Amino acid sequence: MKKIGVFTSGGDAPGMNACIRAVVRTAIHHGLEVVGIMKGYQGIVDKDFIPMTAHSVSNIIQQGGTILKSARCTEFRTKKGRKKAYKNLKAAGIDGVVAIGGDGTFTGAAVFMKEYPDIKFVGCPGTIDNDLHGIDFTIGYDTAINTAMTAIDKIKDTANADARLFFIEVMGRDVGFIALRSGIATGAETVLIPETSTSIEELVETIEYHYERKKASIIVIVAEGEEMGGAVKVAKKVSKRFTALSTRVTILGHIQRGGSPTAMERVNASWMGLEAVKALLAGKKGIMVGIVKNEIMHTPFEKAIKHNQEISSKLLEMVKILA
Ligand code: F6P
Repeated sequence: MKKIGVFTSGGDAPGMNACIRAVVRTAIHHGLEVVGIMKGYQGIVDKDFIPMTAHSVSNIIQQGGTILKSARCTEFRTKKGRKKAYKNLKAAGIDGVVAIGGDGTFTGAAVFMKEYPDIKFVGCPGTIDNDLHGIDFTIGYDTAINTAMTAIDKIKDTANADARLFFIEVMGRDVGFIALRSGIATGAETVLIPETSTSIEELVETIEYHYERKKASIIVIVAEGEEMGGAVKVAKKVSKRFTALSTRVTILGHIQRGGSPTAMERVNASWMGLEAVKALLAGKKGIMVGIVKNEIMHTPFEKAIKHNQEISSKLLEMVKILA
């Protein structure tokens, strides 16, 4: 292997830049040429490649977003688009690629490698949602829960001043990892996530329980993918049944995707970027590099994207007992 490419794809996440930096500098350390591919798969189809030097990744470890940009690429989903992508990679002499992204990114890489096995793809898990198997904390997740925590703390200050009931929606289209950890970190009264089902009756009972205990405020964290359809809908249903408190809704939205990555994020993203290059040099392909219990683990793309990281029953128990 002489030349590799690196790209970011799907929803951007804080820590992606730290990972890019590590890929570039590790590649150079091992005598490889490295190019940045702009806008994910779109950049491969459009041959939007930029040569990278150690200097091109200076001063980015602390930045959110991604210097390589990200995009959704419909062309790459077609056979014709992938053929074009293959030709562009071959013409540029790229025989290995580090793909930083989530399930859509790895699905694309797996399909591409079935058709063109001579280009080796290795992945790094970049998504704030933490919805991949083979990784404890995906790149972006730690920063996102810290951002959510800071925002929820602020909401709690004002909620406490007027004994209000707040429904706060956090990101997580299919999973409740952000909701669960940010809820525990802020002492939320309850957390609604897609992985567990809660009826309106149960929710009203929980709110009544806390109301009777004369809590200064009641905070309900709602994952956006929760089955009742998000915080606005839940709040409407509850406020019809429970009129004792004044109710407000806040949707945290995309602030959770931005911002300077936490120290843990920067270190882990750097470690995974470095290990991804080492994996390519060792001839590995079709795997995602993850950190599980502080050890590097390689997980085949097909397994990583099954969304089967289970929600921890210990964390669920913490919400119930500690609220
Ligand atoms: O990055 C994942 C995610 O944050 C999801 O939780 C959310 O539903 C989605 O991205 C929204 O992203 P976009 O605005 O890019 O569609």
